[in-house]
Amino acid sequence: MTKTESTAWHQDIAHVVHPYSNLDAHSTLGPTVIARGDGCYVYDEHGKRYIEGMSGLWCASLGFSEKRLVDAATKQLNTLPYYHLFSHRSHPPGIALAQALTAVAPEGLNHVLFSSSGSEANDAAVKLIWYYNNLLGRPQKKKIISRLHGYHGVTVASGSLTGLAHVHRDFDLPLPRVLHTDCPSHYHFGLPGESEPAFTQRITDNLEQLILKEGPETVAAFIAEPVSGAGGVIVPPAGYFERVQAILKKYDILFIVDEVITGFGRTGRMFGCETYGLQPDMMTVAKGLSGAYQPISGLLLTDAIHDTLRAGSRKHGAFAHGLTYAAHPVAAAVALETLHIYRDRDIVGHVREVAPYFLEKLDALADHPLVGQVRGVGLIAAVEITADKAARKPFEPTAGMGAWIQNRTMEYGVIVRTIAHCVALCPPLISERQHIDELFGGLSRALDDALVHVRANK
Ligand SMILES: Cc1ncc(COP(=O)(O)O)c(C=O)c1O
Repeated sequence: MTKTESTAWHQDIAHVVHPYSNLDAHSTLGPTVIARGDGCYVYDEHGKRYIEGMSGLWCASLGFSEKRLVDAATKQLNTLPYYHLFSHRSHPPGIALAQALTAVAPEGLNHVLFSSSGSEANDAAVKLIWYYNNLLGRPQKKKIISRLHGYHGVTVASGSLTGLAHVHRDFDLPLPRVLHTDCPSHYHFGLPGESEPAFTQRITDNLEQLILKEGPETVAAFIAEPVSGAGGVIVPPAGYFERVQAILKKYDILFIVDEVITGFGRTGRMFGCETYGLQPDMMTVAKGLSGAYQPISGLLLTDAIHDTLRAGSRKHGAFAHGLTYAAHPVAAAVALETLHIYRDRDIVGHVREVAPYFLEKLDALADHPLVGQVRGVGLIAAVEITADKAARKPFEPTAGMGAWIQNRTMEYGVIVRTIAHCVALCPPLISERQHIDELFGGLSRALDDALVHVRANK
């Protein structure tokens, strides 16, 4: 590629390193350039319209043209485009957001440490837990248990928590203090003939056994998404979190709930914590916090943890952690306005209203010959693609079925994402029935085409 080839397409290939993309194939595939957005739709550089069935990356909950958020950003840019929270400084949007966020958060989470991404929020959770246990005089209590197929980010610590082999391979991850326990997917990991309750009992027994094997005095925390997203949209089986929480309590292990995807209405409640009865000691939020219009995330803490951090300052002086852009005033102003929109328009109520229709459309795909299982809650779902329905066998990666379905769906003007043998769906929370019809219309057609393709290539 030469610098003289000057279309955006060529310049992209020449200069942009693309996350989660095949960097080798990119030089011939090139990018799909998305140029603008409108409501639940985005448009590529050639003007083709797509319904955004993934809210970008599970984040653009209010769609792509919310004027109130644009106005909030503009107003803040004109007032105070940047300031920080270091050395006892503060600014109005940061303060107001902390107040509004802790007001809607689950009981007891009264303090928030801001950063700019979900990965950073989870990274901070790990760091603060290590600090916390040192301050409590138990320096050996440091291990963090995460789950296979859980997704918590890509930085050195959060990437370690992520339970996906490709996030670790050749990156020298995970860090030694991170352990992984079972993924709560009965479809994928249930033994032949094992009922869902028996599966739940077995995997939670495994969690307890892992804690006992490692020594409870060495295990600091357990992290989980209420519904796993990027690991394949795993909806937990009934009773799973109840049993997990009882085990954590028994061994004095903190519970970090990663609400980066599930926060702010996605599951039909403000937080996945409410949907599944979770009582976190720490909770991380990002994505929907600002409807993705600005990069901002938060790590919410209980009074007990915050009190210990204060004790740390009595010992060490300044709390030696902080990011330049933490609670960036423009991002904070946009996030505050996002929370106001959720409240003013009762977005959570809207999700509860449209979710049954969304899930009904999802269920209608269950009998398709290429569909092994459908699963979902609120406005997040997965369609599991299978080469053999009875044996629950996925297609070989070399068959490229995921990419095939994703590309064909795009040809029909619908954006979905294929991950871990499933098609993930996570439309904007403002979706109406007509958007849901369009989303499933394009996906159904693509699945039918895929079936013809599979049969022709047998
Ligand atoms: C549940 C969860 N946690 C954390 C992250 C990481 O967030 P970010 O990509 O903003 O670092 C993600 C990203 O998809 C996520 O889904």
